[in-house]
Amino acid sequence: MLRNDLALNGAKFGCRLAQCGACVVLIDGRAARSCVTMIETVGDSLITTIEGLGAIDKPLPLQRAFMEEQAAQCSYCFYAMIMMAKEILERSATRNPPNATRGMGRQRTCAAAAPMAASFVRSSGRQI
Ligand code: FES
Repeated sequence: MLRNDLALNGAKFGCRLAQCGACVVLIDGRAARSCVTMIETVGDSLITTIEGLGAIDKPLPLQRAFMEEQAAQCSYCFYAMIMMAKEILERSATRNPPNATRGMGRQRTCAAAAPMAASFVRSSGRQI
């Protein structure tokens, strides 16, 4: 629905098995794999996609950190990584990058894992 009906193309379609994380959006602030989330189960929850965050000319600090650290390899799951990072940083009391990146699942094995961790450091203590 997000991609086909609403043209919100930031969330990518990858494995459709809740494994790769390319489709992550926030549902009431919690990262959720949209490929296995039925719209009927969402109810009145707030769904946030990458399109609902900052804009290219006015990125959020977290998005700016990802861009400055070039925290992407192929970029297919880049937006999903930002969405997961946003949730983790907002929930994390310690904002410890290694712990935070652990929560990102398969993305931490990406070649961009190191710059992604650096993005967490840049974002720590800042408004996300
Ligand atoms: S498409 Fe891979 S987790 Fe959703």
